Amino acid sequence: MIISSASDFREAARRRLPRFLFDYADGGAYAEVTLRRNVADLAGIALRQRVLKDVATIDLSTSLFGRQVGLPVALGPVGISGMYARRGEIQAARAAKAAGIPACLSTVSICSIEEVAQVADPFWFQLYVIRDRAFMKDLIARAKAAGASAMVFTVDMPVPGARYRDAHSGMSGPNAPLRRMLQAIGKPAWSWDVGLRGRPHTLGNLLPVLGKDSGLNDYMGWLGANFDPSIQWKDLDWIRAEWDGPLIIKGILDPEDAREAAAIGANGIVVSNHGGRQLDGVLSSARALPAIDDAVGDALTVLADGGVRNGLDVVRMLALGAKGVLLGRAWVYALAAQGETGVAKLLELIAKEMTVAMTLTGVNRIDAIDRSILAEPIK
Ligand code: GLV
Repeated sequence: MIISSASDFREAARRRLPRFLFDYADGGAYAEVTLRRNVADLAGIALRQRVLKDVATIDLSTSLFGRQVGLPVALGPVGISGMYARRGEIQAARAAKAAGIPACLSTVSICSIEEVAQVADPFWFQLYVIRDRAFMKDLIARAKAAGASAMVFTVDMPVPGARYRDAHSGMSGPNAPLRRMLQAIGKPAWSWDVGLRGRPHTLGNLLPVLGKDSGLNDYMGWLGANFDPSIQWKDLDWIRAEWDGPLIIKGILDPEDAREAAAIGANGIVVSNHGGRQLDGVLSSARALPAIDDAVGDALTVLADGGVRNGLDVVRMLALGAKGVLLGRAWVYALAAQGETGVAKLLELIAKEMTVAMTLTGVNRIDAIDRSILAEPIK
């Protein structure tokens, strides 16, 4: 199929992937209300068209945590992305590096920290709150040794959200392994590329705790069993002490929590509801962002994710107060559709779309994007 926009990648991914994998990426929690809000609220932000402002030269680069980046964008952490294309985390990290943007590796990736660090630059690592604190410490040490330049600490998953689509699709639920196998037989291109040539499908970073026979069943089981709802802000002190680089707290949706993050000495936050995959019914990121930026924008670097599907959405998030944006589903669809080439094309599209949006709102630098390019006051 012809790919001319980011949404074409979604359709291409849907055609290529076994259903359980497409739905795992595409779906959210409960009735998926927040998932839809993320997209709709962001797309509903009206930009203010301006003309004749001499925008012949547009500079999309900026700096994030002391590093110059080609776009105010990073590939956000997405679990098991190595199942979406052969050794998918590596392919995505290569495309990110070529575009000069950070790739953030998930704790629950197929490829390990050490494998991805070879190709990613800037390389960020995402860490979960895990019951086994010694293992967390070990992961932090591995990320540091591998040269990670920022730690993204996810705090909005003390329990996994109810992902009903997963039970229907075979990601979880009765006879899941058999259902997944039958789906894979119906997708020969994926089965050859990922199912066979993409092995091993072990969770690279969890080998020390799960062993080399770990697979997708362990993934769902491990997520449920190992997250720790007893964690509190003060527990983050030891993480702050273990990790001396930039620390970014991901999963903030409330100004009071944002102030707590600033108080523990975080360098950044990601305004996020985990792509609508956790508590359905919470605010969209676009709606939550402005008040959070007002509360802590001067104290730390505010990033955001949730509903960003194209370059216009990136510009909208920046106008609402973000200094940078994490992509999630958008890059996973592109990866599933066309591997590294797909992610590279997506980033090119985003750059082009940002250029058009900046030209027609009359701004030529990333740091000139603020609420003045919005057509209507923030509600
Ligand atoms: C894991 O972080 C997920 O959202 O599935």
